[in-house]
Amino acid sequence: MSFAAYKVIHILGVLFVFASLGALILASRDGAWGGRGRKLAGMTHGIALLVVLIAGFGALARLGMPNPGHWPMWVWIKALIWLILGGIIVVIRRSPQLSTLLWWLLPLLGAVAAWAAIYKPA
Ligand code: HEM
Repeated sequence: MSFAAYKVIHILGVLFVFASLGALILASRDGAWGGRGRKLAGMTHGIALLVVLIAGFGALARLGMPNPGHWPMWVWIKALIWLILGGIIVVIRRSPQLSTLLWWLLPLLGAVAAWAAIYKPA
């Protein structure tokens, strides 16, 4: 698969990550954690993170940086953000009072990941 194709799939995964996080935040905020919508969003969240990771590593391999020994700072920044976007589901479920803050903060974290991919701080 080409580098460009990996990037398109990578960004598709990112879009699904944020669609699902938005739904999970609102489900927690509205006390609808047990609802069918939350289950769909939870499943999408997991699958999307996997797509981001696999396509991200595919793109990294095309850039000649297959393993962590070769990773510059910008890749570590994105890997950390990926971990946060995975683990945040626990905070969303346990702390509905943080919903509004997370609603605005998480997309900003996504912007930091995009910045890292575009400006590539070494
Ligand atoms: C382990 C996790 C990740 C890896 C290995 C990874 C890897 C990559 C790579 C190799 C690129 C291509 C960079 C280039 O064009 O030269 C890329 C682009 C991108 N990544 Fe990631 N990424 C990861 C996580 C994320 C996350 C969590 C987000 C957003 C929340 C994200 C958003 C983006 C965006 C928006 C681009 C396109 C930037 C552009 O237009 O050039 N990535 N990523």
